[in-house]
Amino acid sequence: MSNLSRLLKESWTLVEEQQDKLASYFYARTFLNNPQLRDLFPVQMDVQRSRLLGAIVTAVQTVDNPENFDEYLQSLGRDHRKFHVQPEHYEVVGDALFEALRTYGGDQWTIEFDQAWRDAYARIAEVMIAGAEADSTNPPYWHAEVLYHERRSRDIAVLTCRPMQPLEYRAGQYVSVETKYQPRLWRVYSIANAPRKDGSLDLHVRAVGAGWVSSALVRRVRPGDMVRLGAPMGQMTLDRRSTRDIVCVAGGTGLAPIKALIEEMTRANRTRWVHVFFGAKDRDDLYDLACLNRLAARYPWLSVVSATSDDPDFPGEHGNVSDIVARYGPWRNHDFFVSGSPTMVRSTLRTLAEMQVPSIRIKYDAFGDV
Ligand SMILES: Cc1cc2nc3c(=O)[nH]c(=O)nc-3n(C[C@H](O)[C@H](O)[C@H](O)COP(=O)(O)OP(=O)(O)OC[C@H]3O[C@@H](n4cnc5c(N)ncnc54)[C@H](O)[C@@H]3O)c2cc1C
Ligand code: HEM
Repeated sequence: MSNLSRLLKESWTLVEEQQDKLASYFYARTFLNNPQLRDLFPVQMDVQRSRLLGAIVTAVQTVDNPENFDEYLQSLGRDHRKFHVQPEHYEVVGDALFEALRTYGGDQWTIEFDQAWRDAYARIAEVMIAGAEADSTNPPYWHAEVLYHERRSRDIAVLTCRPMQPLEYRAGQYVSVETKYQPRLWRVYSIANAPRKDGSLDLHVRAVGAGWVSSALVRRVRPGDMVRLGAPMGQMTLDRRSTRDIVCVAGGTGLAPIKALIEEMTRANRTRWVHVFFGAKDRDDLYDLACLNRLAARYPWLSVVSATSDDPDFPGEHGNVSDIVARYGPWRNHDFFVSGSPTMVRSTLRTLAEMQVPSIRIKYDAFGDV
């Protein structure tokens, strides 16, 4: 561990248990120093669940782990254009952060700790600002019209929307979405199709519990509504130079990016076998299985295994999808794509590690922290 990482981790332990108070102080300071910044944030701001402070702390703690980090920060900076974030805002937010840390770190907060946070934050801010500047030919967000809205189960809908301006992305990426029903609340959703000539995008959305944005997308949005989309992000894209066969593991609406990748392969692939494992709680949640099966019938290189964990009469595999992947192995020479809930992704990554699949061959997106 480098000296910088050690200082950041050590100093965080001083304030970690007072995170909620630190967050309140941080936001109060930010909005006091620049009241206009309040308008960038959601109307109902629940400090405990607010995303910015947690995200900055995670980024700062990761600063010494450069694998794909710069690329991530550049796209995060680009994505922040949707919040109307300007370069000068980084200083306001940074100052509020350093002040909050100093206040809650108390007597034990040393100049060395302060400097470590300043250095890490400055490095991150620099890359994010550069990412935003490099994207100035694109709009900060895209207005898109919802063309179709199809309920596939009680909680799942497939939406098709068309951005008003060209939105370039690669199969496997995701975009953030905002609806008029929850202004300034953005959540990310994977694009479920490879780029099309007419520019339209499919989203597969599951309404979770009391979820603000997912419920609006499933239960309130209608054809003709406008939504806003942020810049595409994510590294779960196809490595076209690889000749290895592919295993895709999808849980529920985690199928969305996998479907986009399969679609991309229907345009070019002739040589790589693609095995898709699609798991869900019950058959209703296998909302797109019929389409997957049609693709498998048409393309000889594609096979689909479906599984339910909680539907004893389902005519397919039973159990957690990660266990089923293990049963069909070994998979020593394959590229992997894994997408779904954090629990499902975590258990699949564990299974693959036990099967000695090198982590460099695994790309994954979890719908939350893994
Ligand atoms: C890279 C990435 C790609 C994603 N792609 C998709 C996608 O293609 N389709 C899709 O449906 N979702 C996807 N998600 C999840 C999505 O971004 C939202 O997190 C989800 O829709 C919940 O948002 P919300 O505003 O409705 O819930 P919030 O208001 O954020 O949360 C409400 C409550 O629900 C809980 N909660 C949040 N998520 C879940 C969950 N998954 N299961 C159980 N409880 C939960 C929260 O802890 C909270 O208590 C993706 C997430 C990531 C990080
Ligand atoms: C080190 C610098 C920063 C990092 C690492 C960072 C990271 C993040 C991340 C990862 C999110 C969550 C995104 C999402 O859920 O869609 C977020 C949200 C947000 N960020 Fe930043 N950010 C930084 C600086 C800033 C600055 C300077 C501003 C300007 C005010 C800003 C404004 C916002 C807003 C408004 C949100 C949405 C908040 C919410 O929904 O609760 N960020 N940030």
